[in-house]
Amino acid sequence: MLIFSGSSNLPLAKKIASQLGTTLSKIEIHTFPDRENRVRIIDKVLDKDVIVIQSTGVSPNRYYMELFFILDGLKRSGARSVTLVIPYLGYQRQDHIFRSGEAVSLEVIVNLLKTLRVDSVISFDLHSLRTQEFFNTKRIKLSHLSALSVFAKEIKRISRRFSDDSNLVLVSPDMGGIRRIKLLSGMLDEQFPYITIEKNRDLNTGSVESVKINGKVGKTAIIVDDVISTGKTLIAASNLLSENGAQHIYVMATHGILSGEGPEDLQKSVIKKVIVTDTIGIRPNRRFSKLEVISIASLITKELRK
Ligand code: R5P
Repeated sequence: MLIFSGSSNLPLAKKIASQLGTTLSKIEIHTFPDRENRVRIIDKVLDKDVIVIQSTGVSPNRYYMELFFILDGLKRSGARSVTLVIPYLGYQRQDHIFRSGEAVSLEVIVNLLKTLRVDSVISFDLHSLRTQEFFNTKRIKLSHLSALSVFAKEIKRISRRFSDDSNLVLVSPDMGGIRRIKLLSGMLDEQFPYITIEKNRDLNTGSVESVKINGKVGKTAIIVDDVISTGKTLIAASNLLSENGAQHIYVMATHGILSGEGPEDLQKSVIKKVIVTDTIGIRPNRRFSKLEVISIASLITKELRK
């Protein structure tokens, strides 16, 4: 099995390779002073099935360009098939036209992956079902994995800590996350109670307002989301929960983009702990003491072994 990795999340790629009993194949990624990249595939891939691991995150444009060049290099070198492991698929939130004149960025990305002859894709907790449709239309096989099982284990651990507290509730910070929260509640031993929050985001300024809670707030609230970028959604949700009686607020999100002031703001917030997975490589300067990162490498390894 030949596994090539871009530079976005090398620790995850190395973990996967090691779990598969191999090491990463050789590739050269050179960045020129003007930030252009040159990619060269060094190991021989002629007639081989290869895996490429590359995520996006805080620098989607940089990592996508790198990925496109890796894919081009592989095909020019005669790779037979390419499985792309893209744990966080950047631009997936721009999956339809919100305001007239906008680009559907996700469709552009999927079209490019097709052009670069990606055969199958493995990704995590996609923002909406529309993503699946784009891949289906382009006849790219998509394996949609989820970190929810990992979060379910973590929630059981937290609930044991609060064994005196039957007052624990799951929270979706917006109405778009209802499906996710229902799934998670169903995965837990008992049917966990869940509530939802109605949120408004100003598309011009990016500001977020949590306006209404649907359901009864527990003393311990666990907010579950797919992505943390600026942290505004979770901070607004946790402030509203705190004003309504929540005393211990935990946050779990699959993808920790942690852009802008996100790390500082989350650290200062009423949130007790922020749990994310390693779908995105988090640089040391973006880490903060309330942050905990759980690995999903073994879920990818299991999928690649199929
Ligand atoms: C939105 O629909 C998503 O599920 C996330 O809640 C959102 O993208 C998080 O972004 P931010 O951290 O910038 O509020």
